[in-house]
Amino acid sequence: MKLVPTIGEMKALSSSWRKDGETIGFVPTMGYLHEGHLSLVRESVKQCSKTVVSIFVNPTQFGPGEDFERYPRDTERDLGLLEPLGVDAVFIPEVKEFYPEGYQTYVEVTEITNRLCGLSRPGHFRGVTTVCCKLFNIVSPHKAFFGKKDFQQFTVLKRMVDDLAMDLEIVPMPIVREPDGLAMSSRNTYLSPKEREAALCLSKSLKEAQRLFSSGERDANKIREAVKKIIESEPLAEIDYVSVCDPYSFDEVDKVERGTLVALAVKIGPARLIDNTQLGVDEI
Ligand code: PAF
Repeated sequence: MKLVPTIGEMKALSSSWRKDGETIGFVPTMGYLHEGHLSLVRESVKQCSKTVVSIFVNPTQFGPGEDFERYPRDTERDLGLLEPLGVDAVFIPEVKEFYPEGYQTYVEVTEITNRLCGLSRPGHFRGVTTVCCKLFNIVSPHKAFFGKKDFQQFTVLKRMVDDLAMDLEIVPMPIVREPDGLAMSSRNTYLSPKEREAALCLSKSLKEAQRLFSSGERDANKIREAVKKIIESEPLAEIDYVSVCDPYSFDEVDKVERGTLVALAVKIGPARLIDNTQLGVDEI
């Protein structure tokens, strides 16, 4: 497993692989890896002849007052987790090379970024699309793998790749959960044991949404209210949003159907957690 610290070295490696006819799979991460990330890496290793993982805590996707400084970082531990999986290269660029002085180019997907997380985190998706566009240019992957816990992120990136006719496939992968249902996230490390317990209200509420749907409920408002009720009954939880929406436009719907997205953002103590499920599609 090669450690690649500079943009030039990463580009040279990818272009030599491409010349040799290799298929490059890419898993962009901000590090502090968990089983969710590792499931993406395993899939890339399965589908592609070379796999690159990037570790880069991207400053442009954090707003003022957000957790950029305290975002958990442990590169040694991350490398130890990646090595046995058959990863070929880990790209670890430095902020000062990635965004040098004078940097002024950004990529923006409009409309679908003005919903859900885009409303409470202005500028977040502009940072995500910018960093991913630049990473895609550097790594030159055939496929890039993203977890559906960040459902809106995956949709926004797919939109960017389609709209800009970028030559790669965005591969969505299922949410990985702890045995008790909590969706895996690097931000779970912010939770105290009490908050960790309280955080289960997210997956419990989504499970209830699935139960209502499978028992025939089609009124979006009834599902929205049932989800809210479960979260509001948890004293440590503060709802940012509960959305029952179309999974492409993220517009709220009145009637649900198979595939309708139920998406949540909830503050539990110091952590803002997100989770989602597609009705009649996902298992929780
Ligand atoms: O999902 C993440 O960890 C980040 O948003 C990503 C895709 C690595 C871009 O910084």
